Amino acid sequence: MSKVLVSPSILSAEFAKMGEGVANVEKWGADLVHCDVMDGVFVPNITFGMPMVKSLRKYSTLPFDVHLMITEPEKYVGEFCDCGADIVTFHPDASKDVKKALDIIKSKGKKCGLVLNPDKPLSLVEDYLEDIDMLLIMSVYAGFGGQSFIPEVLDKVREAKKMIEKTGRDIDIEIDGGINTNNIKDVLEAGVNVVVAGSAVFKAENPADTIKALRG
Ligand code: DX5
Ligand code: ZN
Repeated sequence: MSKVLVSPSILSAEFAKMGEGVANVEKWGADLVHCDVMDGVFVPNITFGMPMVKSLRKYSTLPFDVHLMITEPEKYVGEFCDCGADIVTFHPDASKDVKKALDIIKSKGKKCGLVLNPDKPLSLVEDYLEDIDMLLIMSVYAGFGGQSFIPEVLDKVREAKKMIEKTGRDIDIEIDGGINTNNIKDVLEAGVNVVVAGSAVFKAENPADTIKALRG
């Protein structure tokens, strides 16, 4: 299995000290920085947008893993790439033109991916397996940090792994929501190789140790 990458979600960091939060993520030994962008329309919460991503860029050399929870992502993905995103994922059910959004991200030389909420089937991404670099399976309903892990989504992870293997393509399987050191074993066994963790990392007594433990 490929190396497990840990992507701490800065949604759980102190917003008034976000630069420091991002720098800490790197200092603690993480692999990616997970940025949760919410628009208050696709999800019932608002976080931050392109200017935030742009100004955070100088606080870390780690790749920015930008998770868009916004309607019509095709309108904004290009700008997120220009602001320093390295991986851009969005929810296909939020988009009027999924292929267009993926193509814009790829044209910027960045990695693209699709995200499925717990009630969304793999059939929504089937047609795009030749295009995507990452599939993000939500293990909570997108919108808030600190929710409880929904174990049933691991069946979807196992199915996704089989589906991806058939394509022969190198597509990362990322999981997001309620991940901690208690459920990580099951999560990795199901086939995940990129782990998002917000509260588990930022509320840990020793975040560096937690990040290590999340690699399995
Ligand atoms: C939820 C976000 C997640 C969230 C993860 O909508 O996409 O990235 O911040 O936080 P925890 O790990 O606390 O569930
Ligand atoms: Zn996220």
